[in-house]
Amino acid sequence: MPVAITRPISPKLAECELTYLDRKPIEIHLAKEQHRVYENALEKMGYTIRLLPKKPDLPDGVFVEDTAVVFPERAIITRPGAESRRPETESMAKVLQDYRDLSFIKAPATLDGGDVFVLGKHIFIGLSKRSNGEAVRQVDEIMRPLGYRVSGIPVRHCLHLKTAVARIEDDLMLINPKWLSPAHFPGIHCEPVHPDEPYGTNVMRRDKFALTTTAFPYTAEWLARRGYDLIVIDQSELAKAEAGLTCSSVIVEDNQI
Ligand code: GLY
Repeated sequence: MPVAITRPISPKLAECELTYLDRKPIEIHLAKEQHRVYENALEKMGYTIRLLPKKPDLPDGVFVEDTAVVFPERAIITRPGAESRRPETESMAKVLQDYRDLSFIKAPATLDGGDVFVLGKHIFIGLSKRSNGEAVRQVDEIMRPLGYRVSGIPVRHCLHLKTAVARIEDDLMLINPKWLSPAHFPGIHCEPVHPDEPYGTNVMRRDKFALTTTAFPYTAEWLARRGYDLIVIDQSELAKAEAGLTCSSVIVEDNQI
């Protein structure tokens, strides 16, 4: 059964790492309610929620995506670029070993899962403030024997590679062309986000469903026109922590090889 691994929100969320955003007050009760609504949406999309233990002292602990990358063949436990986030990986490894064999990124590599974008057998890694070239080398060493190709892509204007791009279908992506050149993805249609919605790549897709947030009405309209069952949720407090929808879960599809 497909699983979405999530973690409860830390009461210290407002002390989270911020890179490109200014700090704004975060209403913790509202954030917790929005995270519950997010988990409900994932259940509607067919996932069973598997909860990681609470980590009240880890402000960014809810953003589990950065701690692991799951493939059909195995999972990679990352070494997050922000030092404050490194203690988040241990509890993820304990849970993920129930689903996949694990490999571990090691120093001096740093890698955030938000910088890993996979299209079929091609793994793109954002060379951002969080992820470095040594991570590209280590992921290549782990995944090349399994038939994957790994490429590094510079990310300069936003936190993670996946802040700038989202997979909609195998041959269709949403992209912010001001932050990431479509030339990195030859042969794939790259739909530009609406200019008023630079973070409009904030979409999760599964089967007939498309999940986005109330902050992106043009993106929601575009997805609806394409015929998806649209789920639109408010994630205003999580967005203040520089997080998109994918940040708050690690998806384990039922496709183990
Ligand atoms: N607040 C999310 C991050 O910076 O990792």
